[in-house]
Formats: sequence, structure tokens, C-alpha cells
Amino acid sequence: MAANFNNSAWFYDRLSRLVYGRALVNAQLYLLGFIKPNSNILIVGGGTGWILEELTKLYPLGLHITYVEVAAGMMELSKKRNTGGNKIAYIQNAIEQVNLNPGFDVVITPFLFDNFTEQTLKTVFNHIHNLLKPQSLWLNADFQLTGKWWQLFLLKSMFVFFRLICGIEAGKLPEIKTHFTANSYAVVDEKTFFNDFIVANVYRKKMVYI
Ligand SMILES: C[S@@+](CC[C@H](N)C(=O)[O-])C[C@H]1O[C@@H](n2cnc3c(N)ncnc32)[C@H](O)[C@@H]1O
Repeated sequence: MAANFNNSAWFYDRLSRLVYGRALVNAQLYLLGFIKPNSNILIVGGGTGWILEELTKLYPLGLHITYVEVAAGMMELSKKRNTGGNKIAYIQNAIEQVNLNPGFDVVITPFLFDNFTEQTLKTVFNHIHNLLKPQSLWLNADFQLTGKWWQLFLLKSMFVFFRLICGIEAGKLPEIKTHFTANSYAVVDEKTFFNDFIVANVYRKKMVYI
């Protein structure tokens, strides 16, 4: 069964700020700093959509954003966000079910992959990969385990909580970095937050040589 974040839409931001303070927000703000003006951006799993307002603070106009979010409750909140003069296409569906025109300059996947099984991650990763231009940026933020006991404790607690409330499928973190390496993405930059438990990665898709 696919996860349904509808049930958490009304409290998700408050809960995440209660547990992690500004760390989840700061990880994503750091990633937004890599976006150039007038970019054609794909956002997948933007949740309540606060990231749209942060992008609009950076660039009040000129961006083309395709915003794909599967949960209806999350999408409803996202549509209420101030997006200035930017052009937004809202698509309420699972990204792997959506046929989009390839050619994005940037994709943002913020805390999207952590609750996927390896199989779902592979499907979703390949789908997004095929939508990106050569040399585009993939901005990803997620949890990682670096060997500290409390990280595993927090992660397990999240899995139990979100399995009960939203029916998430995962019981452990999937191998996220492996997919970027296997598809020859270059590491542009990386920053960790919340004592290394959160990692924000900037990847660049490889050039195509003909
Ligand atoms: C853990 S939440 C993170 C929300 C937001 N990025 C944040 O940091 O506050 C994951 C979000 O991804 C959405 N999602 C999960 N699977 C998806 C899929 N296959 N396609 C699009 N959105 C998806 C969920 O509905 C949820 O809103």
C-alpha cells in the first residue's frame, strides 16, 4: 500500500519543527541557493508547499515550477501559498504516474525517499532521472545514519508513527546515494544538519557526449 500523507497534512509542519527545529527547513534553504534565475524546476513531494514561498522570496518571478505532490491535503495547502509572478503547474499525483515533458534544469526531492522501499525508490529515481536535462541539478535532502544511536532511535520512531498515521511502506532507510553514484551524478556540494542526521546533497547530471 502506498503511503498517504493526507492524514498528516494539518500537523506535519508543526510536528517536524517540534522535533527538528529549523533543521529540515535550513537543509532545503541551503539547496535553494543553488538555483539560477528563470529555471525550469520540478518539485516532488513538497508537502504543505512552504518551499514555494521560500523560492518566491529568492525569485519573485521568472521561475517555471512543476509541483507534483500525491497527497490531496498537502496539495490543497500548497495551492494557497504565495508564488508571486512565478508560473506553477500543480499536479496532484504520484510522480511515477505522471507523464511530463523532459527538460528540467533542476529537481528538488526534499525528504521524499526516506519512506520508500528499495523497489519504489528505484522506480521513482529512474522516472525523475529521465526528466532531467544533461547537466541539470538534482537537489536532495533526507535523513542518513552515521552511526549515532539516537539517529536510529529517531528514525525508527518516525517509521512507527508514520506507518500508523499514513501507512508508509518502509521499515528502514533505502540506499539513496547508491542511485546517484550508479547513474554517474557528480557531487557538487553537500551539507549536513542536526548533528549529521540530515544531509542535503547537490548533484549534477552528467553531460551526454555524442
Ligand atoms: C516526508 S514528506 C516531506 C514533505 C516536505 N518535503 C517537507 O520537507 O516538509 C513527503 C511528501 O512526499 C509526498 N509523496 C510521497 N510519495 C510521492 C510520490 N510518489 N509522488 C509525489 N509525492 C509523493 C507525500 O505526500 C509527502 O507530502
